[in-house]
Amino acid sequence: MSILWTAADFVQAMDGRVIGDIKPITGISIDTRTLEAGDAFFAIRGDRFDGHDFVVKAFESGASVAVVDEAHADAFDPAAGALVVVPDVLDGLRALGQAARARTDARIIGITGSVGKTGSKEALKIALSRSGPTHASAASYNNHWGVPLTLARMPADTRYGVFEMGMNAPGEIAALTRQVRPQIAIITTVEPVHLEFFGTVEKIADAKAEIFEGLEPGGIAVLNADNPQFERLSAVARTRAERIVSFGEAEGADARLEQVALHPDCSCVDADILGTKVTYKYGAPGRHLVGNSLAVLAAVKLAGADLALAAVALADMQAPRGRGAQTVLSVPGGTITLIDESYNANPASMRAALDLLHQTEPGFRGRRIAVLGDMLELGEAAEDLHRALAGPVEDAFVDLLFACGPHMRALYDAVPQTRRGRHAQTSDQLVKSVVTELQAGDVIMVKGSLGSRMGPIVEALRAAYPVADKTTETAGAA
Ligand SMILES: Nc1ncnc2c1ncn2[C@@H]1O[C@H](COP(=O)(O)OP(=O)(O)O)[C@@H](O)[C@H]1O
Ligand SMILES: [Mg+2]
Repeated sequence: MSILWTAADFVQAMDGRVIGDIKPITGISIDTRTLEAGDAFFAIRGDRFDGHDFVVKAFESGASVAVVDEAHADAFDPAAGALVVVPDVLDGLRALGQAARARTDARIIGITGSVGKTGSKEALKIALSRSGPTHASAASYNNHWGVPLTLARMPADTRYGVFEMGMNAPGEIAALTRQVRPQIAIITTVEPVHLEFFGTVEKIADAKAEIFEGLEPGGIAVLNADNPQFERLSAVARTRAERIVSFGEAEGADARLEQVALHPDCSCVDADILGTKVTYKYGAPGRHLVGNSLAVLAAVKLAGADLALAAVALADMQAPRGRGAQTVLSVPGGTITLIDESYNANPASMRAALDLLHQTEPGFRGRRIAVLGDMLELGEAAEDLHRALAGPVEDAFVDLLFACGPHMRALYDAVPQTRRGRHAQTSDQLVKSVVTELQAGDVIMVKGSLGSRMGPIVEALRAAYPVADKTTETAGAA
């Protein structure tokens, strides 16, 4: 492992007080369950745990140093490992992140949006890696600790840095983007997600547009020309960015979709990326991902990386578990296809997932089955937004709808009687009916907000029926 931080730079960045001898620092950790030998451990206080309770464990796992606050400075045996003592551990991590940002020559790309952040971040990582050392957020680490952690982990020789930024409230993206200081800022799309907290989609757009507050001089905004909020976002971008680059199907988009063939396991795309014609395969299915991929390739070109190599790399993209991963399961008399979208849901991703279900052809005598759980955090509009899915359900040729949760009742009642499978208040009550309903040839898509607990339905299906074909299965982080 190469050195990520010298002890001197590490301590200086945080202006900390050192106790003991710091071993070579090869990584940064805030969680002892995933800590690797050589990591510097930051004892951050989370919602449920205080990292200070895990410092001893961190040293047992080979931590090179632990960063703790003054209140805990005397709590540990100096023989167990070195400490850096700071007034506040999260502030210390931020300071280290700022040192990483200050020392880098990398092209820095920031991504936000209501949906598509993590998928686009992964795609950018794969695409840019072909042109040079690329550093990107792990998993969905996009919040007040995820962003400074990702910065602090950025190696000095990074050429491309990709940072996901998320939010639940106004002001959060502003704070994150000022740390990241992107040269290229992407907003994937703006949708009614977290409507409960924002009230209107326009307010969500304004909160996303905060990403431009951290844009570096000469910075570029990459915006979705197909999104109704495009003009609103552009107005803010114009005040901060030197240039706005649009992507989408819209006439005149700078990164423009020219033609697409949607397949059950991938999409084949012809696009014009800022004047360069590109033909590529995107390795995960769904039209929505094709849209995101235009932003990805635009950013690749703007970052000065090799567009052709990037386009080739996108064939390696795979749908992660819970976000569109498909598995073929054996049932008596044949197989069924399971589309696992159980990780989360909002009106935009629900429509995208129904589209995906539509795209997937059932087998002989098979049916399209949708198992949908409540979309949460939608506030007063919840009932209407659920009922409004009746159209997309019909457009997707869903033969049978299983619905769970109080909001989904509105949708269930809005679909024709012949297409109703069953409605239940909780996924526990629904799972058995779903498992026993399946027949050879069926395609089944399971989706709902995390809090609606649709994951257990996927697990129950996997437990009931063995995997027939692992070829499309992935376990990647989302
Ligand atoms: N542009 C888009 N429009 C609609 N749904 C999308 C879009 N991009 C991604 N999705 C869907 O949204 C869900 C979350 O995707 P992900 O990339 O993890 O987004 P985020 O990190 O913003 O939560 C997935 O089910 C994905 O297929
Ligand atoms: Mg994410």
